[in-house]
Amino acid sequence: MHLLLPSVALLLSPALAKPHPKRATTLIPRTVFDTTATFEQYFTYNYPWGGTTHNGGARMDKAHVSISTPGVLTITAQPVKGQPPATHGGKQIAINYLSGACGAKQKFTIPKGGGLIFNAQVQATTTKGTWPAFWLTAVQGWPPEIDMAEWKGSGKISFNTFNTSSSAQTKDITYTSPSAWHDIKCQVKDNGGSVAQVKYWMDGTEVTTHYGRDYVGKELYLVINLQMEGSSGSPGPITNTTYSIRNLEITTL
Ligand SMILES: *[C@@H]1O[C@H](CO)[C@@H](O)[C@H](O)[C@H]1NC(C)=O
Ligand SMILES: *[C@@H]1O[C@H](CO)[C@@H](O)[C@H](O)[C@H]1NC(C)=O
Repeated sequence: MHLLLPSVALLLSPALAKPHPKRATTLIPRTVFDTTATFEQYFTYNYPWGGTTHNGGARMDKAHVSISTPGVLTITAQPVKGQPPATHGGKQIAINYLSGACGAKQKFTIPKGGGLIFNAQVQATTTKGTWPAFWLTAVQGWPPEIDMAEWKGSGKISFNTFNTSSSAQTKDITYTSPSAWHDIKCQVKDNGGSVAQVKYWMDGTEVTTHYGRDYVGKELYLVINLQMEGSSGSPGPITNTTYSIRNLEITTL
């Protein structure tokens, strides 16, 4: 009987009773854009809800999305003529470009009591008529929508969190050196009452914090796309435009 005493003492020791810190889980690893095969393991082409057009002047296809060098995903928007228009919100939109979009195969959910961190480096243009974006949007209904970074052809980068179409928190800041790589980070976490806290960083500096109503527990698509014209103005450029992304990594908090 007395032989059991040391192990009982160990079980009761405060050091061992302390819970282990929760370890972050990697949902998409940094190697995702190493090859076309690793990219295709995690992403599908075009919009993740299906379809090749949305709210701008580009029609997406697989040919305009590529691993341009190992580790770098590049989307090219190419001016074209003779494309049928897109239909969005009951309106016809002229298609003046072929471009690309991709969506993560997995859906992301801000868990109760937890969160997610999205990291990437981007090379994006702010030329009029170019509308690159790195964003999350609701799988069922809408919102949630979190624009972790979008550029609407105005020399700025925008960060947006929507409660409804008419009630959004938005933050636009000047975007210098578009041809350089910039770090983008977004942390989303349960803030209680199904509200998500959304923190945005650029180049290691915290830009803003937003709160999204009814975001917790809802599935989100991750979209990386180069739309054209639409909210970024028109006419857009008459030569090819590229949008590149590398070092994408998504982990739990
Ligand atoms: C959106 O909802 C959150 C949570 O209720 C709130 O904190 C935030 O101020 C709302 N944003 C806007 C623009 O109303
Ligand atoms: C524009 O992009 C398309 C599609 O990637 C490519 O085939 C074409 O060669 C590019 N044109 C120029 C001038 O680079």
